[in-house]
Amino acid sequence: MHVILLGTAAGGGFPQWNCWCPTCRVARETPERAHPRSQSSIAFSVDGVRWFLGNASPDVRTQLTQLPRADVRGVRHVPVEGIVLTDAELDHTLGIELLREGRLLQVIATPSVLRVIAEDSRVLPVTQAFATVQTVETELGRVVPLEYRNGTPSGLTIEMMAVRGDPPRFARQDDEGHTSAAFIRDTTTGASCAFVPGCGGLGPRLLSRLNDVDLLLFDGTFWTDDELVRLEISDRPALAMGHVPMSGRGGSLTLLSPLSCKQKVYTHINNTNPVLIESSAERALVESAGMRVGEDGMRFEI
Ligand code: MLT
Ligand code: MN
Ligand code: ZN
Repeated sequence: MHVILLGTAAGGGFPQWNCWCPTCRVARETPERAHPRSQSSIAFSVDGVRWFLGNASPDVRTQLTQLPRADVRGVRHVPVEGIVLTDAELDHTLGIELLREGRLLQVIATPSVLRVIAEDSRVLPVTQAFATVQTVETELGRVVPLEYRNGTPSGLTIEMMAVRGDPPRFARQDDEGHTSAAFIRDTTTGASCAFVPGCGGLGPRLLSRLNDVDLLLFDGTFWTDDELVRLEISDRPALAMGHVPMSGRGGSLTLLSPLSCKQKVYTHINNTNPVLIESSAERALVESAGMRVGEDGMRFEI
């Protein structure tokens, strides 16, 4: 399976248009010291030609240029066979509307996420005014085969597992499954990837599932729980926003570093997170714990 990190920043991107926090300043003034990043999304494929997206970011148009160039004969070519959603947040779903020229799209998500994009954000009906959008419900804990848009099997499966978090601010209900970890598996080779860009807590059940994957892509939003409070950007701590911080005793770095996954990479990194600075002490701590800070364009073969 091929996996490409199309974007590795949290909502707003890096640097964020209205932000002059210390890390955004570095990214603007000396981008070689803190590489700019687009909003979090991945692409995965078994054949390197037909791709599925993990979330569809508002940066999708430029992100798709990172896919290998296809040998296109006709006048139209849609490289995206399906979009798997881990939640219904705007930074993960607005890209669906931006793919409306695709005529036939496929969206794969839990019933809770499908309800929010149908009724609350209305991303689904807005897109459906332009394109046919097939929806595939993935009940929590059920292994679902991923099919291409023409109905043939891709050889990949998906399983969603609910994780702690808060539902989008615009969601009218707080249903289980509003935020999930996506477990992607290549049924031919057995290779597996967990895509978890939003996660508000790491319990033993989730940790033991994450331990079994080859490639772990995990929520790297914040370094500390009080990151936005200290910068006076927000009065909500990281955990209240549904993101477990990297540092500290219950932080993701301590809990994930013992896992035996072959590769562990942070993604959905907020523009305030000091790990974005290449030479920071926080970056060195991540790397010495055997993890990596994701960058746009990183590629994995698993
Ligand atoms: C999140 O990751 O918590 C959300 O995307 C927040 C947001 O961008 O509104
Ligand atoms: Mn987000
Ligand atoms: Zn910033």
